[in-house]
Amino acid sequence: MDSNDRLSARREFLTFLAASPLLAFAGLTPRLLAAALEPAQEANRGQGIDVRTENPLAVLPPHDEAVIKSVKDALTVMDFELAARAKMSPAHFYDWTIGTFFDETLKANRAGFEQYQIRLRRLTGIPPAAVDTSQTLFGVKWDYPLFLCPIGPLRALDPEGYRNVARAGKTRNTLTMVGSGLLEDVNAVKRGEPIWYQFSGPWKPERIKEVERAGWPAVVWTVDYTQGSNLEHYRTRQRYYTPEACNGCHGDAGPSAGPRMAGEASYGPGQTWNDVKRLKDFTTMKVILKGIVTRDDAELAVQNGADGIICSTHAAHVDAAGRGSIESLPEVVAGAAGKIPVFVDSGFRGGADIFKALALGAKMVGVGRPYAWALVSFGQEGVETMIDLLHTELRIIMAQAGTPSIAKITKASLATRDYAWER
Ligand SMILES: Cc1cc2nc3c(=O)[nH]c(=O)nc-3n(C[C@H](O)[C@H](O)[C@H](O)COP(=O)(O)O)c2cc1C
Repeated sequence: MDSNDRLSARREFLTFLAASPLLAFAGLTPRLLAAALEPAQEANRGQGIDVRTENPLAVLPPHDEAVIKSVKDALTVMDFELAARAKMSPAHFYDWTIGTFFDETLKANRAGFEQYQIRLRRLTGIPPAAVDTSQTLFGVKWDYPLFLCPIGPLRALDPEGYRNVARAGKTRNTLTMVGSGLLEDVNAVKRGEPIWYQFSGPWKPERIKEVERAGWPAVVWTVDYTQGSNLEHYRTRQRYYTPEACNGCHGDAGPSAGPRMAGEASYGPGQTWNDVKRLKDFTTMKVILKGIVTRDDAELAVQNGADGIICSTHAAHVDAAGRGSIESLPEVVAGAAGKIPVFVDSGFRGGADIFKALALGAKMVGVGRPYAWALVSFGQEGVETMIDLLHTELRIIMAQAGTPSIAKITKASLATRDYAWER
């Protein structure tokens, strides 16, 4: 029996099972069964669907009962992915969900977490409700060690997108970063709330001063999208980028007519560390560099006056390095050497992921797609629920690990596969 035969025999058996009362007896839900029928999809859980299957939309129909109908039904942040997929146009969904090149880095962002496991402690007497997840940063106390990453094109999904995200960040006392060009949008709801302003490309003095005058405490300078990328998926998904689907919002040219090859979509390839130093000398705001993935650059960030760094793969939307953020994090933390805080994002989908990053020395952990999916599905309430879910999961794993506060989470809370348990 070759592998194709084996696959179709398995498929037949599972389909038979789906119609059988045995299903309930075996504790299988239609959702689990759907996953079993699509090993590719299951293998990709947590990092987006398997977007390279020939007909990905057929993998799990958008209106399948696995798609939650109410925000109250959400049990994990991944529920929002399916819900968003049912609402978004295929072109937008793919654009937002997948990575670049052959998704090497997208996969690594999730696979990297498997390198680390959490060492649990028993009989600690710590109920999850008693766990303190607050984190203080630059003198501001946040309820969670969580931040909402900057996402440029939020308005494409929800005209009120930036405001809804800012409002959710406010009601949940969660650090929020917003993408360039949105000052006006977010100022409307900011009102004294510390929101951080993000931009890409060479910094513009007028804009920096404008942000400074508006009272924003920090600018996040994204320095990873400077040499272009290969958005090969624009070709494989070309059928979704039709004039009918795109021109209404993007004008006659459509959003991306044709594959965007390496070198095209780049922001300021000529920038150097000297520009960081100049920015620091120019503004009184904190300067945070987003996209640092090596010890060398973390050291340079410290030397050139950066106030913080974000270890990030930019949602795997840039490179084919095949290295996940969680894998780069330890050396970035070593480079920062405790002199400036290190943040991390890319691929974080649950409380245990966040816990691992905190144990490796991250101060705050960011999510991008999860809140974008939640926003598309259920607006502000969706984003708030997403934050609540991650918070609950984090509290549970912290209690299980015997760590009642963030400060108690250390490297000793983790093991690796080759962990030597002897004292
Ligand atoms: C659709 C989309 C647009 C994004 N736009 C920006 C951007 O304008 N600037 C930026 O620094 N990062 C941008 N990011 C990256 C996020 O800030 C963040 O690094 C990333 O989403 C985290 O990974 P995650 O989506 O796996 O949680 C974008 C991400 C997505 C998914």
